[in-house]
Amino acid sequence: MSHQLPPLKPAPVAREVHELIKSRWSPLAFSSDPIEPEKIKTLFEAMRWAPSSYNGQPWRIVYVVQDHPEQFEKLSSLLVEGNAWAKTASLLLLVCAQKNFDHNGEPNKHHQYDTGAALENLFLQVTALGLVGHEMAGFDEEKSYELLGIPREEYVSMAMMAVGYPGDESELNDDLLQRQKAPRQRKPIQELVFAGEWGKPMDL
Ligand SMILES: Cc1cc2nc3c(=O)[nH]c(=O)nc-3n(C[C@H](O)[C@H](O)[C@H](O)COP(=O)(O)O)c2cc1C
Repeated sequence: MSHQLPPLKPAPVAREVHELIKSRWSPLAFSSDPIEPEKIKTLFEAMRWAPSSYNGQPWRIVYVVQDHPEQFEKLSSLLVEGNAWAKTASLLLLVCAQKNFDHNGEPNKHHQYDTGAALENLFLQVTALGLVGHEMAGFDEEKSYELLGIPREEYVSMAMMAVGYPGDESELNDDLLQRQKAPRQRKPIQELVFAGEWGKPMDL
């Protein structure tokens, strides 16, 4: 099976940053070709090594692959209609964050922060392996607890992710194609970074 490299839609960065950061993006076209299990395990290993408050590692994921249609159908049924494009991806993930620390049972204020960091690790590894990924808040959180047996007193069901080999853009409908081709944008750095105190422009 031959796979093209991820579609090139590099971030129009203001300064050169690492190739992986520049190349990662959220496409809508996914190939249904299976991802090698070794690669999937590598993605999870990348996630495992993210930093976290008190090394609490609050992230948990449920994964399904298209080769297991029953499981795949169950998880993908949680997606909102607007994210139906994700059903072509060969790997779907649902990410949860543990609310309290293991070591003392106290609330972990940073459980969602840490979980986001772990998933960015995973997405950079996705890019490094020639895969593409797309995160999604558009899913039925309420339904997810019962459908997947997530203990809701302890975990919050956060987001879903599609991962796969890059797909053929020409198979997207007009609306999705337009979104896939839209220019990538970010806020200017001056809105995000302050020098010494809030609101003070960067002086580097
Ligand atoms: C937590 C989170 C939730 C998102 N939810 C959705 C979603 O439901 N549907 C969708 O098409 N994209 C979703 N996105 C993708 C963002 O729209 C995308 O990351 C953003 O536009 C920046 O584009 P880029 O990832 O290509 O740089 C989500 C991203 C994140 C991080």
